[in-house]
Amino acid sequence: MSIAIFASGNGSNFEAIVRYSREQNWTTSVSLLVVDREDAGAIERAKRLEVPYYVVSPKHFPSKLEYEEALLELMEKHGVEWIVLAGYLRIVGDTLLEPFEGKMVNIHPSLLPSFPGLHAVEQAWGYGVKVTGVTVHFVDAGLDSGQIIAQRAVEVDEMDTIDMLTNKIHEVEHQVYPETIWKVVTGEVAYSPMIIVVSG
Ligand code: GRF
Repeated sequence: MSIAIFASGNGSNFEAIVRYSREQNWTTSVSLLVVDREDAGAIERAKRLEVPYYVVSPKHFPSKLEYEEALLELMEKHGVEWIVLAGYLRIVGDTLLEPFEGKMVNIHPSLLPSFPGLHAVEQAWGYGVKVTGVTVHFVDAGLDSGQIIAQRAVEVDEMDTIDMLTNKIHEVEHQVYPETIWKVVTGEVAYSPMIIVVSG
């Protein structure tokens, strides 16, 4: 059994997870990185860390269905039990999601349900919030809407610039994501999606 990490960009969370998993001697290890772009910075990190990586670009498939079928095949080939999204800039479709329901997690740079979607740090900054943070959640069919597993607050100081805030959020992500992944993988945190009923 193993973990696959999916990324589209820089890959700093990917690296933090791999390093932590090695320090802590995880019995379920990160066996591969999947990126959807040839220019993802995560590739260089995978080479350095000697983690096998695959570039699977949706551009090379006629449809999202076929793209995700190829990903699923890759997961089966590597005995992947858990998918960790770390800056993977795509909405996961049913083809991949259904077999991994409750086995796929994501990290988002805000305190969800505030500021879902792209540019969450910029959205929070633009809104003038005084506290933001990071959220780790199970993935469902919505946009950053799955069951919340862990959150950590980050204060916005008066002297902060948006770059400083972004860096603070990344630092917190690099701590909270690896720790939370291990809690999920070991069953300390269970998947129990709720139906939220808003009335009134
Ligand atoms: C992180 O801020 C994460 O919360 C968001 O995408 C960013 C990825 O950063 N989902 P990196 O590629 O891991 O450096």
